[in-house]
Amino acid sequence: MHRTSAHISTVLLIGASRGLGHAMAAEFLKKGWHVVGTVRAGGGRTLLHELADAHPGRVDIETLDITRPDQLRALRQRLSGRTFDVLFVNAGTTNPDPTQTIGEVSTEDFVDLMITNALSPMRVVESLSDLVRPDGLIGIMSSGQGSVADNESGQRELYRGSKAALNQFMRSFAARQAHTSRAMLLMAPGWVRTDLGGPEGRLSIEESVPGAVDVLLAKLGRPGLEYLDYRGRTVRW
Ligand SMILES: NC(=O)c1ccc[n+]([C@@H]2O[C@H](COP(=O)([O-])OP(=O)(O)OC[C@H]3O[C@@H](n4cnc5c(N)ncnc54)[C@H](OP(=O)(O)O)[C@@H]3O)[C@@H](O)[C@H]2O)c1
Repeated sequence: MHRTSAHISTVLLIGASRGLGHAMAAEFLKKGWHVVGTVRAGGGRTLLHELADAHPGRVDIETLDITRPDQLRALRQRLSGRTFDVLFVNAGTTNPDPTQTIGEVSTEDFVDLMITNALSPMRVVESLSDLVRPDGLIGIMSSGQGSVADNESGQRELYRGSKAALNQFMRSFAARQAHTSRAMLLMAPGWVRTDLGGPEGRLSIEESVPGAVDVLLAKLGRPGLEYLDYRGRTVRW
């Protein structure tokens, strides 16, 4: 995206305390961006705090638990008047026993994961989207496991369902924005060795995140919603 030399691009990154979100923050900093990143309150020092110390004046740390509408309203208030080139919602989780089939999952785990992975990221997008420049980008961390078409092996059934629901909700959001110049992105980062991905993951963070950020930046200025992986390949819905 072309901006005047005085313009410093800024990303609002939701869920940047560790894992892929923290690595994305580091990658944006490498590219000269300013980062406003969120962590959950009460979590103490996080990797984002380390990053902020290492890059004085270039990282603002905000707090948000995406499942808490009161905290989202308060964040919206604190950020009012600011403008972002990119809003990216990375925060997400899995259910306690991802090996359970959908018939085995408890109602409580079902509700919790759907709220965290599907409803809450969309609430963030709906609430903060007007802070994004008209030609900016709104993205969410989805997963290849959110693809209905590519699900030929089952497993992690509730997690898959939560990301498929997220994709569907984002498509509805995008459909309402069909005539805007906004770029919208659902990102599949690959199976990455993080706390969530586990030690068996196919990719290191370094093998996923720089590519994912490059794909995101290449999508800036390309209006409409795409579901892309960390190498820029289209993922089937
Ligand atoms: N790793 C993979 O293989 C993989 C593959 C596909 C998609 N993804 C997606 O990538 C995203 C990041 O995953 P990761 O692998 O980096 O996992 P991770 O290391 O477990 O990190 C999860 C991040 O989400 C934040 N988070 C979780 N629930 C939250 C909530 N209610 N409010 C605010 N923040 C919350 C965590 O904050 P705290 O530090 O406060 O807990 C942390 O920053 C997730 O959406 C995940 O579904 C991961």
